[in-house]
Order: sequence, then C-alpha cells, then structure tokens
Amino acid sequence: MSIFFEAQSRTFHLTNQYISYLIKIMPNDQLGQLYFGKAVRHSDNFDYLFERVSRPMSASVFEGQPDFSLDHIKQEYPSYGTGDFRHPAVCVRQKNGSRILDLTYQSHRIIPGKPALADLPATYCESPDEAETLCIVLEDKLTGLTVELCYTLFCHRPVLARSARFHNGGTDPLMLETAMSLCLDLPDSRYEWMQFSGAWSRERHIRTRMLEMGIQSVESTRGTSSHNHNPFIVLKRPETTEFSGEAMGFSLIYSGNFLAQAEVDTWGVTRVLMGINPFAFSWKLEPGEAFQTPEAVVVYSDQGLNAMSQSFHRLYQKRLARGYWRDRPRPILLNNWEATYFDFDEEKLLQIARTAREHGIELFVLDDGWFGQRDSDAVSLGDWFSNSRKLPDGITGLAEKIEAMGLKFGLWFEPEMVNKDSDLYRAHPDWTIHTPGRRVSLGRNQIVLDFSRPEVVDYIYEQMAGLLSRAKISYVKWDMNRCITEAFSWSLPADRQGEVFHRYILGVYRLYDRLNQAFPHVLFESCASGGGRFDPGILYYAPQGWASDDSDAVERIKIQYGTSMCYPVSSIGAHVSIVPNHQIGRVTPLETRANVACFGTFGYELDLNCLTHAEQEEVKKQVAFMKQYRQLLQFGTFYRLLSPFDTNFASWMVVSEDKKTAIVGWYRLLNEVNGPFHRIRLCGLDPQAMYRINQRDVCYGDQLMHIGLVTTDASAGESMPAKKPSGDFDSCLYILEAE
Ligand code: DGJ
Repeated sequence: MSIFFEAQSRTFHLTNQYISYLIKIMPNDQLGQLYFGKAVRHSDNFDYLFERVSRPMSASVFEGQPDFSLDHIKQEYPSYGTGDFRHPAVCVRQKNGSRILDLTYQSHRIIPGKPALADLPATYCESPDEAETLCIVLEDKLTGLTVELCYTLFCHRPVLARSARFHNGGTDPLMLETAMSLCLDLPDSRYEWMQFSGAWSRERHIRTRMLEMGIQSVESTRGTSSHNHNPFIVLKRPETTEFSGEAMGFSLIYSGNFLAQAEVDTWGVTRVLMGINPFAFSWKLEPGEAFQTPEAVVVYSDQGLNAMSQSFHRLYQKRLARGYWRDRPRPILLNNWEATYFDFDEEKLLQIARTAREHGIELFVLDDGWFGQRDSDAVSLGDWFSNSRKLPDGITGLAEKIEAMGLKFGLWFEPEMVNKDSDLYRAHPDWTIHTPGRRVSLGRNQIVLDFSRPEVVDYIYEQMAGLLSRAKISYVKWDMNRCITEAFSWSLPADRQGEVFHRYILGVYRLYDRLNQAFPHVLFESCASGGGRFDPGILYYAPQGWASDDSDAVERIKIQYGTSMCYPVSSIGAHVSIVPNHQIGRVTPLETRANVACFGTFGYELDLNCLTHAEQEEVKKQVAFMKQYRQLLQFGTFYRLLSPFDTNFASWMVVSEDKKTAIVGWYRLLNEVNGPFHRIRLCGLDPQAMYRINQRDVCYGDQLMHIGLVTTDASAGESMPAKKPSGDFDSCLYILEAE
C-alpha cells in the first residue's frame, strides 16, 4: 500500500490492493479529481484522465484556453462562482460580501497512521502501520483561508476516510457557509442511488432509484441524524446485486444535520457531496481560528453489496467503536419499558428482575420513570434524582438488590432534555434552546437543553457522573426524544446563531466522551425514540444503539435488514417483546421474535411473569442459545441473502472467521398455501467442509452455496402443521457446524 506523489505530473495516487484514488494539481493549482474505484497499477502520469474540451457557454480559467473550464472538469474540493455551476464543497462569505474563492495547492504531507479529529468522532488506527494519511493544504491567498484536506487509506481495507480542516490565517473574520467533508466527481451517472429512510418505528428502509440528471439528496434539518434519513447512501451499478458488481457506500460520522447529495450534470458527471447540512448552518471563523469538518467514509466494492457492508461492519466494529465493550459479546438484557411504562414500584421491578434472573438473563435495565416526580412524560426530565415513592432505597438501593440477585443493573437517562415542570427548568429557564420573543414548540412535552453551552453539559455531567459513581450501574441507555426547534442559543451573538446545531452535537459528544472516560466499563446504548440517531458518530461512544421503537418481529426484519447495509450486528439493539405487539398490534410467534432479535444485541422488553409456563421454558432455551452463539451472531461475517423489500421472505446469515460454524436466519412474512419449493444459496462457507445442519442432515459447503439450503417444510402443501395456528410470520434458524 502506498500514497504516491508524482512531482512531474503533480499527481497523487492513493492505492492499496483494493482501491485507487487519483488527484491532480491542475494548471490553475486547484485540485482535480481523476479516478476513484478498483485498484489500478501505479504510473507516473495519469494526465489522459484530465479531460479538457471547449464547450459553448462555458467560462474558462485562462485567457486563450477555452478548453480549461471548471464547468466540466472533475474537482476535489470545488467552490462556486468561477465557472463551476454545480453545488460546491465549500462556500465562505467574506468581509466585503463576496463568496468567490481560489483554493490552490500550497503543500502536502504523507504521514503514517491517522491523526485524530479535534472534538469529533472518527475512525482510528491502533498502530501507525494500519493506514497512511495524505494531508493537502490549499490556500485562498486573498483572504488567508487555508483548507487542509485529509485522506486516510487503510492498508487492508477498501476504505478511504476524508475530512477537511479550515483555518483563518487572514486578518478579517470569515463566515463558513458550506464546509463539506467529502466531494467526489464521478465520470458517469449509470448508478442506482440507495437511501435508508423512513420515520419513527420504520427506520432505515431501503429505497432505490436510478440517478437522474439534477440533484437527489437526503438530509436532516432536525438537529439529529433522524429517523427520516440515515447519513449513509450507496451508489451501485444497476446490475449490482448483494453478491456481485460495483457499489460505493458513503457514510458520515456525524449525528446532527447532514446532507448527502448526488448532482448529475449535463455531461453525466455525478458529484457526490456529503457533510454538515449547509442549510441553517454558518460558522464564524475569526482570524487564527480553525474549524474541523466531520469525517466521511467511502467504501468501494466490486463484489456486491454484501462485500461493501462487510467492509463497513469490520471498520465500524473494530476501528470506530471503542473501549471495553468493543470486542465483547453483549449482555442479554431485560428492559422494563414495555412491561411497565411509568407504572412501577421497587417490588414490581424486583419481581420482574427475579424472574429474568431465573431465565438466565444477565442485565436488568430500568427505563424511563425512576426520577423526580416522573409518572408521565410531562414532568421531571432534568431532575436526575430518584423518585422516593417508587424507589424507597433510591437507585443505589435498587441497584444493590439487583446485583445481589446476580444480575447487572442498567439505567435510562435522557440527558439532553428538560420538562417545563422540573426543578432544573425552574432554576435555569435560559439553559434551553428557544428564540427570544418566539413561542417554544414542545415535543413529547419537553424542551431541548442548550448543549452548545459548556456549563449546561458540565451540569448534566455532574448529575450523571454522581449517580454512576454512587450506584452499581453497568449500563446506560441514553435516550433523546425530540427534534430541535426554534434553534437559538442565548450564549451566542447574532452572527454565531448559525453554529447552534453543530455546537449542540459537539456538546453531546463532549458529554459522551467525559462519561466514557470516567466510566470505561459502563456499556452505553444510544437511543433517540428508537433509531432517530442511529449513526456512526454515536457509535464511537456507544457501541450499540436501540435500532427502533418498533419491536414487532416482522417490522424489525426490514429495519434490521436496512440497518445492516452499513452497521454491524453488534451495534443493533434488538429485543423480544410481548404480543399483541405494542406498536402495531401484530401477533407473531415467540420463536420468530427471538429469531429476529438474535441478529442484534439480544434482550427482552416484557415481563416474563406474564408468559405461560411453556413460553417461559422457550425463553430459557432462547437465552441459553444466545449465550452459546452470541459471539458468532454479533461478530461473525454477516451476509444478507433474501430481501424482505423484494419478496415474501427474508434471510440472512453469519459465518465464523474459521468458517466452521454458521447460522442462517430464514423468515417467511405471510404463509403460502401449496407454494413453490424453496432453497436459499448460502455464502461464505468452506466449499470443502461438510456441515451438519441443526444436528441432522449433512451437506458440503459448495452444495449449500451453489445448490442451496432447502427451506421448504410441510406447510408448502395443502395442510398446516398442527402446532401452528397461524403459520404467518414463521421463521427458522439453521445452525451449521463443520464436521
Ligand atoms: C423512547 C425509547 O425509544 C423507548 O425505548 C423508551 O426508552 C422511551 N423513550 C422512554 O421514554
């Protein structure tokens, strides 16, 4: 692997065994983009890729050279207004009101490893020989603005990580209006665009369409990355499948307002932009000040979507997530939310926990409702002291009793929020985000604390850290249940109000970071009304996230399937809940609920005392199964096999590193009568190995991969097996063990 710089042709070539990325310093000293894709051999000159042509209506850079126009040239970090009419990577308003920039090459350095990003989550190296980083400094001479573009190439991954750092080296303040993390001009537009969109309770559904001339984008303006769109898109060739073909995934390590956009111009060039959403954003850079963009990660695959996802999984599992829990199988938990909501006391909780313990569960999580006067969602957010009516011995006492049972104890917080009816709000109404003279919009009866203010973050840290030090708390569920409205910080001057959203997220990251450092053994699970902030930024601090409030097994198949495009199984919080399901009213078999949730960080969201004896016995088996296989389920190589977005079926599988064990999850959404015979072709097995399937039949790996695993059962014919009254929402796990 290497990053080459060819001085004569002024070309950078970042390449490893998988990918090549080519940048050229153009005749006007700005950076041009020549190529990104499958690795090619190195040459000292790639100038034939630098396309110059004279076109009517295009403005040219140099007099007498009409063929050198930014209108059509592919660029690395373009600005608007000097011949390129596409959306720019950077826009800076200057003292005289102008936005024209000329960012030209000044210098570069190539360093081993990967420098950390100031105050922001990012991928990292454990040793400097894992990656190499190219930093190119561009300067706008008139203003003194410099932009350092950083590109990290990981040695053994088809991955490039990018970010930009701005520095005002001039004498006048500058106003950043657009500061993207990534810009990539691709030479054609024959791509399908995939986005991962939805709403509360149906997050990250896969949506695919052909790229068209013009702009297509997903974004957030809500202050969180959002349920509505994930900061992740894929461009794939139309013929690309899960198993073959070219795909590029673009992921932003950021939890606030983002933009992911593809603009196809008139000549079929596709410009991908990704970064902080320029809408409602500006950042004032005083002389001497710097601004760091979040990191964007690009993964290339020429072996289909599964290979792309696996690259993301490995990177995010091993070089984004951190800390004690990064590599550890996750505790099987029971969360009381859907079991009790706000209606509990200590005795009720202990009863639930006791039964959980008898079933082999390892962690009891107390959700919302334990603090202040919290009997509904209208009161007490911000008052992080226990409700003595419900918990006479406080959280400390409860945690001790739970620990004494042999369970670990976990606790819910919603650190970023306050209710009007709370001591915190009464003491510090100015600590909330609201605009002078305007009404305050409530969401779930609550207001957002102004985390752009360090003193607010410090106060919440003290509250949480105090409790985490006093009580035996092994796990924290960090919730966030509304979007930001009337964005305004009372601590910032008028010309800095465009900074509120980004400063808010920096405050969230700061609090997470301080808690991670002070309590390195505590497992953090993120949550934002389910999957409203399920993004790589949060994954840096919380290695798992509650993927959705929708705990129905059938809905979850789609949510987990879409989520798996970018995020590893070890990050996907998934629980078995009661039926009829509380979100959708559906009744699914207990077996299917567990068969879906086990492809995640498994747990239960119900009171086991409400189950029948037979169901309780089934739960015991599920817990024992999960303990036996969770290492493989959460950290094995994950393949999607059948999409619930395309068919009545879904299937996915995990394979161990040594290929000796695999688990296939197979799900039929609605039953079929007299249906076809079905086989699924498996992936990633050892073709030579003989696998025993569910301790019964045997098949060779090549047979399972090329002929397939037969999934047809008796219900394919005219009659249903007697034990199943419905037959809808059926599922099966196949455990494959090499002999
Ligand atoms: C929303 C979360 O997604 C739920 O799991 C639960 O924690 C509630 N908030 C509690 O208010």
